[in-house]
Amino acid sequence: MKTYKLTEYKIRSLPQNALKASKNIDQPSHDAIQNFITINSSSPNLERDSIRFTSERICSQCSKCLSPNKPPMGIPPVLGKGNVEAKLMLVGEAPGEWEILKKEPFIGPAGQELNQALKFHKLDRDKDLYISNAIKCRPTRYSEFDSTKLVGRKPSGDELANCKSFISAEIEIVSPEVIILLGQSAYEQVTSQPIGSHFTPLVGSEDLLNYKSWDGTDRSAILLTTWHPSYILRKETKKEQNEIRKDIDKTIKRAKEILGI
Ligand code: URA
Repeated sequence: MKTYKLTEYKIRSLPQNALKASKNIDQPSHDAIQNFITINSSSPNLERDSIRFTSERICSQCSKCLSPNKPPMGIPPVLGKGNVEAKLMLVGEAPGEWEILKKEPFIGPAGQELNQALKFHKLDRDKDLYISNAIKCRPTRYSEFDSTKLVGRKPSGDELANCKSFISAEIEIVSPEVIILLGQSAYEQVTSQPIGSHFTPLVGSEDLLNYKSWDGTDRSAILLTTWHPSYILRKETKKEQNEIRKDIDKTIKRAKEILGI
């Protein structure tokens, strides 16, 4: 088991009144919000929804973002969804075209696969877990078959790095005890470890992530790594698909076992 440390976002220094005020600001600059959230202040009862709102604003205006789809010209980011108090968090790669349309993670074909696995384990997406992605915009490229059509692609190392603060913020806010990492991008983003082409041996592995929660307490989460559900859709035979499904199942079962749910 390896131990990793989360790159912090300093959510906990966001003052309560600043959170409330942020709801009334229409188009703050990225720098203004960055300054806003690094103001040092004691803040005993942060409003988590306000933090989500603030994160979305920062994300939309991030000057680091490489996505051609980002606002104001393009599409708003897809942040996480679920229970912000859940002990279990799932991290995928990036929203796809369905997710962009609905502004919700994992609702397209890969999401259907994930839903089936969660249903089998009697886990409710809205109550038992919080789901998010390594990056919040959809990385695209032009299709090799139709040069006018944009298709999804893996996020680059730069895109992961530029978006890291948002997954860090979400982990600090949700403070999960177990995080299931769905695929290579999720693993690389949460652990900050580039792994090149060495993902397969990590499937089924357990690691530890140390982080500071939004209220300033030191926490750790067990990281369980498995395949991204879209990998099932890329397999041609039922047998191969079922092998991937079995690995994902085993990981969810292990998460429930650790959490005693
Ligand atoms: N794939 C992901 O990694 N995340 C989504 O939200 C959808 C598909």
